[in-house]
Amino acid sequence: MTTKPRILTGDRPTGPLHIGHYFGALKSRVELQDKYETFVIIADVQALTDNFLTPSNVRDNVKEVVMDNLAVGIDPQKSTIFIQSMIPEIAELTVYYSNLVSIARLERNPTTKEEFKQKEKLFKKNITYGFLGYPVSQAADITAFKAELVPVGEDQLPHIELAREIVRKFNEIYGQILVEPKAQVGNFPRVKGLDGNSKMGKSLNNAIYLSDSPEIIRQKVKMAYTDPLKIRLTDPGHPADCMVFYYHKMFTDPKDVKIVESECKAGSRGCVACKNQLADNIIKFLAPIQEKRHYYETHPEIVDKIIMEGTAKARKVAAETLRQVKEKMFLNY
Ligand code: TRP
Repeated sequence: MTTKPRILTGDRPTGPLHIGHYFGALKSRVELQDKYETFVIIADVQALTDNFLTPSNVRDNVKEVVMDNLAVGIDPQKSTIFIQSMIPEIAELTVYYSNLVSIARLERNPTTKEEFKQKEKLFKKNITYGFLGYPVSQAADITAFKAELVPVGEDQLPHIELAREIVRKFNEIYGQILVEPKAQVGNFPRVKGLDGNSKMGKSLNNAIYLSDSPEIIRQKVKMAYTDPLKIRLTDPGHPADCMVFYYHKMFTDPKDVKIVESECKAGSRGCVACKNQLADNIIKFLAPIQEKRHYYETHPEIVDKIIMEGTAKARKVAAETLRQVKEKMFLNY
């Protein structure tokens, strides 16, 4: 029996994962899997809360997201990858937790508020019960595994805070069963988009995906937002106002970053060369990830096996937590 503390973290399968996911969450997820017993949820039920009209989009992305996780170094020997909808115990816990959260509390959540605004077309003016309540379901994801740590992007902090509140309330009312989780945010808590938007995202159309080909990466870097005052090569640039420089800081050797900065400011560096250098470095960075991804893409049966075995293992853990919860709630008929 392992005695390592647990991690529960994961992604919504709504599209391929991008470098924002990598630096915000995946990188630390990979590093932590040696020290923690890690469970990675593919949150298809949560994805449906804002994709309920297009369920096949969710389905089509489940394996993609699993392959992205495996490609960046999630090791199925160390980590358990599972599909949320295949663990009905999570849905059941969500129902019990829903009594412990007020509507007003859910309406104060800045992340769901922001997402609701972005999804205006889908929701019109009326938020659904399911979307407003998905953080309750996320609390069930986390607590079903008695996870102590949840490595996530910064936008997830309000959800983890809610999960902590639910745990405290549950334990106070029904008895000490649940574990209060802590959030851990990666080094680049929020990676900006190619257009300079404060968030990189699929719906914003400003992302570099882990699976983007070298040609696509070159194209995207070419289109990135740069200092509008630097028109000619010899114009002195303002790196702080340039997305190419911003990504150089993530993908380029620190001593080269210094050169980029001083040459740009001095007007001795053109944007075309600067972009080529950045694209080369991103391509180099992604090469081993894409090589690993290719292996799984060409061995889909291995991916299926990882998912099925992971889900079976995860379900046992969640079922035991649910059993304890129901016992405390006098539901152990
Ligand atoms: N909400 C997370 C996202 O949008 C995905 C997620 C679902 C999750 N359940 C979780 C993350 C539990 C951490 C823990 O990326």
